[in-house]
Amino acid sequence: MSVAHPFFKALGIKSYDLAAIKQLASETGISVERLKYYDKNKILPSDTDVDKICSVINIHPLKLKLLMGCLDRKTIAAIQNKAEEIYEIIKSDSQSSPTSTTTPRLMLTTDYGHLYQGDCLDLMRDMEAESVDLVFADPPFNLNKKYPSKIDDSLKSSDYLDWCELWLNECIRILKPAGSLFLWNLPKWNSYLSEFLNNRLTFRHWISVDIKYRFPIAGRLYPSHYSLLYYCKGEKPKTFHPDRLPLEICSNCYQELHDYGGYKHKMNPKGVNLTDVWYDIPPVRHKRYKQREGANELSIKLMDRIIEMASNQGDLIFDPFGGAGTTYVVAEMKRRHWLGIEIGPVDDILRRFQTLDQERDYLKQIQENYNCLFTDKTLKVRTEKGIWTSESVNKKADNCENTRIKHQNKTLAIQTELDLFRHQ
Ligand SMILES: C[S@@+](CC[C@H](N)C(=O)[O-])C[C@H]1O[C@@H](n2cnc3c(N)ncnc32)[C@H](O)[C@@H]1O
Repeated sequence: MSVAHPFFKALGIKSYDLAAIKQLASETGISVERLKYYDKNKILPSDTDVDKICSVINIHPLKLKLLMGCLDRKTIAAIQNKAEEIYEIIKSDSQSSPTSTTTPRLMLTTDYGHLYQGDCLDLMRDMEAESVDLVFADPPFNLNKKYPSKIDDSLKSSDYLDWCELWLNECIRILKPAGSLFLWNLPKWNSYLSEFLNNRLTFRHWISVDIKYRFPIAGRLYPSHYSLLYYCKGEKPKTFHPDRLPLEICSNCYQELHDYGGYKHKMNPKGVNLTDVWYDIPPVRHKRYKQREGANELSIKLMDRIIEMASNQGDLIFDPFGGAGTTYVVAEMKRRHWLGIEIGPVDDILRRFQTLDQERDYLKQIQENYNCLFTDKTLKVRTEKGIWTSESVNKKADNCENTRIKHQNKTLAIQTELDLFRHQ
C-alpha cells in the first residue's frame, strides 16, 4: 500500500506540523506552497530543490527517491541487482493480509448472463483463473461524484490507485491467454494505471475517445477526451476484428470532410480503417436515452465497438462495475455470455433488461452504418448531386485502365509490323 505524505515522511516531518514545514522553507529558501505541492502530488523536487533539501536535512538524494517511491529506470535496475537481499528484508511485509469477504447476491439470470450485487473483488476472488475472454472496466473516477451506491468517490489519489491495482490484478488473473482487457478512465488515472498494466499485459492501444465531459476551466485546456486503454494477455489477442467506418461527410453539402485527392479509387469500399482516435461516440446526456439519473453511463455505440472488435459470439465478457449495465445489455444483444456486478442498487439494470427491444433497434441502426464507405443515405444523395462514389471512381479508373491497355496493344502492333518490315 502507498505511503501517505511520502515527501514529508521521508524528511521526518509530520504533514500537519506547519511550524516544521515553515522552518524547512526558511532554511532551504523553498516556499511552503512548493514543499506542500511536492508532498501532495508525490513529485520528486527539482534538482536544485533536492540539493537544498538534502543538504539541510542531511539525506542522500537516492534515499529521498527510495523513500518517496519515485524510482527512475536506473534505480529500478539497481534494485533488481540487489533483489535477493531486498527480498529477504521485505518478504514479511508483502504477505497479503486476510480480507473479509461477503458473498455477492445473484440478482438476474438471462439467456447469456448473470448479474450480481456486491463488491466486484468478492466476486472475482471466487472466479476461476483464465476463464474470461474480454474484460471491460469503467470504474468510478474518484471525482467526488454521488453514486446511488454511496461509495466514497473522493479517495486520496494513492488510495484510489492502490484500489485500482487490486481489482486490476484480479481482472488479469481471470483473463484467458490472448484475451483482451479494456480500461476506461480519465487520462490522468490511466497514465498511472498504464504503467502498472505495461508490466503485466501487452499494450495494444491508448484510444482517445473525443467526448467533452466538463466545463472549460480557466488556466486549463478544455478536457475533451477519455482514455480507453487496450491490452491483451500474451503477445497477440486471439480476436481482433475492428469495424470499418464510413467516410466523414458534411451533413449539409454531403462532400467528404477530408481531401482524398487521386486516391479515391484506392479506398476500400468497406469503409475506412478504425483509428485510435474515436470522434463518433455520443455522450449519454439526454434524459430520453439515459437509463439512470446522476452517475455516468456509457454509450451503446462504444460498447458495441469494443465487443465487436475483441470478442466472438459465445465468448465470456466480464465487467466489474455495472452502473446502468450498458456492457451487459450490449453483450446480451450480441450473443456474448456475460458476468456482471454492481455494488449499489441494480434496479436500473433490471428495468433495462425488460425493455431491451428499444436498445436492439438502436444497435441495429449503428451496425447498419458500419463497414461501408458511404451509408445508404449518403450514397443516394451523393449520386443525386453527382459527387463521386466508390462505383463512379472505379468505373472511371476502369475506363482509364482500358484506354491504357488499348494504347499499349496498339504500340505493340506497330512495333511488330516494323520488325516484320525490317526482316523482309
Ligand atoms: C462509472 S459507473 C459504470 C457505468 C457503466 N459502465 C455504464 O455504462 O452504465 C461505475 C459503477 O461502479 C460501481 N462500483 C463502485 N465500486 C464498486 C465495487 N467495488 N464493486 C462493484 N461495483 C462498484 C458504482 O456504484 C457505479 O455504479
